[in-house]
Amino acid sequence: MTTDLDARIRMARDIERGASVLSSRVVEAFLNVPRHPFVPAFYRSEGAVHRPWRSGDEGWLRAVYADEALVTEVDGVHAEDAPAGGVGGAATSSSTAPGLMAEMLDALDVRPGDRVLEIGTGTGYNAALLCHLAGAGNVTTVDRTGRLVDAARERLAGAGFAAAVVRAGDGAVGCPGGAPYDRIIATCSVRRIPPAWLDQCVTGGLIVAPIGNALGGGAVACLTKLPDGGAAGRFLHRP
Ligand SMILES: C[S@@+](CC[C@H](N)C(=O)[O-])C[C@H]1O[C@@H](n2cnc3c(N)ncnc32)[C@H](O)[C@@H]1O
Repeated sequence: MTTDLDARIRMARDIERGASVLSSRVVEAFLNVPRHPFVPAFYRSEGAVHRPWRSGDEGWLRAVYADEALVTEVDGVHAEDAPAGGVGGAATSSSTAPGLMAEMLDALDVRPGDRVLEIGTGTGYNAALLCHLAGAGNVTTVDRTGRLVDAARERLAGAGFAAAVVRAGDGAVGCPGGAPYDRIIATCSVRRIPPAWLDQCVTGGLIVAPIGNALGGGAVACLTKLPDGGAAGRFLHRP
């Protein structure tokens, strides 16, 4: 029988093999932080209907540790609250595919002690990886609704990361209370980098964010904050 630890080790090794270069700190974070406590339920799509798939259901653990995005909220209805028959609508929150998370975390180059802001808490899994890399007391994460952040806060605490700050609010304004940050990562797409992120990032700090207009879509920008208050960088190479 495959245990969650076996599945996690296999996923971390698959991520390592799939990426061109990945820092050992990022791989080690995926080996140490389990994904399953953060996704007790998510949706699978059958045509236009999204049906909840819950912990204990056939194939659930395999899906959790596949390199796939897991949709956890559809039009504001969390998979944990969904009727068995499912719901219709568009995805409004998900756990990003681990391979993409790994590449974004690698680009973010988080060191122990770095103050990190994440925009788009979602399930809290990426925040947990950030806590492992930077130290939980250095991580602030923001999402739109109380439903999402309350669940993520509870799961982060369960994983030993109670010191992380988890806030509801519009990530476009960053989180001024915890500023300045050495690293800022967005897991939702933005059309342009909000001025508040530049204001709240230290000079020489890094900002990693998908530039696009859909949930998780677009090309991922990796920018360095410049002394003149702007930022410059590159897009990550991904198909
Ligand atoms: C891909 S999901 C999050 C993945 C998450 N980091 C994880 O590990 O599960 C993107 C998240 O961004 C959030 N989001 C979108 N726009 C936002 C905004 N303006 N402010 C804060 N959160 C936002 C969505 O609610 C969604 O939960």
